[in-house]
Amino acid sequence: MSEDEAAAGMAPTEQKNYLGFDFSTQQVKAIVVNNAQEVLQEAAVQFDNDLPEYRTHGGVHVRGDQDCTVTAPTIMWVKALDMLMDKLRVAGADFSTIAAISGTAQQHGSVYWRTGAAKTLEDLQPDRFLHEQLVLSFSVSDSPIWMDSSTSEQCDMLEEAVGGPQKLADLTGSRAYKRFTGPQIAKIYQKRKEAYNNTERISLVSSFACSLLLGSYAPIDFADGSGMNLLDIKTKTWSQPCLDACAPGLAEKLGTPVAAAERVGVVSGYFVDRYSFNPECAVVAFTGDNPASLAGMCVGKGDLVVSLGTSDTLILWPSDPPLPQLEGHVLVNPVDSDSYMVLLCFKNGSFTRERSVMRVLTAHGTSSTSSWT
Ligand code: XUL
Repeated sequence: MSEDEAAAGMAPTEQKNYLGFDFSTQQVKAIVVNNAQEVLQEAAVQFDNDLPEYRTHGGVHVRGDQDCTVTAPTIMWVKALDMLMDKLRVAGADFSTIAAISGTAQQHGSVYWRTGAAKTLEDLQPDRFLHEQLVLSFSVSDSPIWMDSSTSEQCDMLEEAVGGPQKLADLTGSRAYKRFTGPQIAKIYQKRKEAYNNTERISLVSSFACSLLLGSYAPIDFADGSGMNLLDIKTKTWSQPCLDACAPGLAEKLGTPVAAAERVGVVSGYFVDRYSFNPECAVVAFTGDNPASLAGMCVGKGDLVVSLGTSDTLILWPSDPPLPQLEGHVLVNPVDSDSYMVLLCFKNGSFTRERSVMRVLTAHGTSSTSSWT
């Protein structure tokens, strides 16, 4: 109780903390902050080192040299969440004080929930790990992720279906990109029809992670949804011509999108029973890492953010609605869904830097290594 509260004979202010997740390419991270945004606990699970049984390199599996297929085992992300929660508990996190949870994830990756998975999510048993219970819940066990470049055919088909690359950009904010989720879903539909037909819901990595916390399917948010080549960024609804060009029955599998800041429900009973969360703890929609960078930097109209990460990005909050171009992306703004954000993404950021550092070190005859992520 503060001195002021004691003097006024008031009940002590309830402690309110907030839990944030980041499901990124190489690891999952979590942070607990208080009202003053001071960090109380932090934890991370690195896929390659902490979950070696999945044999990932940099959190992914790569097949093929050119036009390569890049995926990550969906269940690995679930197991990482189990481990992350235990790490947070060991670090001293008091989950009963968490007022709200939200998070972010690598953009564009897609998760295919097998028919019946909604029921499994709803009935999760608190005395067992999530990964044990969800192991059969994915109709595609390896999620395609943003590093994939195996969908040229599907990109051409999508652009053609809506009247060309500029038309697609005008509608969805971007011309067709191989890593974007629409072409990725089209490939799954074309090459693995049975798996597609056995899918009751398709999530982005962000809405998938949110679903685990919610115990039911979380909606895709407008900002991350803008990285799919499927969302009409003006009406903020799925574009039927784009859906039709990718796969049948897609609107139902994607659910209705919402604003990134929307409260989508309360934490699932699983987390209440297993980790002592307050049953009223709110869950706010998760979004993509790039929209989250704009939100997290607390920038305003006209500001530009430069982020040097796995991919290097330039993010702008434009003053006026931007006209989509053939280069770069226009996304619905995660902070104010009546505004937009512009994203330029260079996919080979950290890897290129790491390789250059290695070359310099090798040239100078030193054996030490450096790893930046
Ligand atoms: C953005 C993109 C990457 C991923 C990295 O379009 O593909 O920045 O979001 O996680």
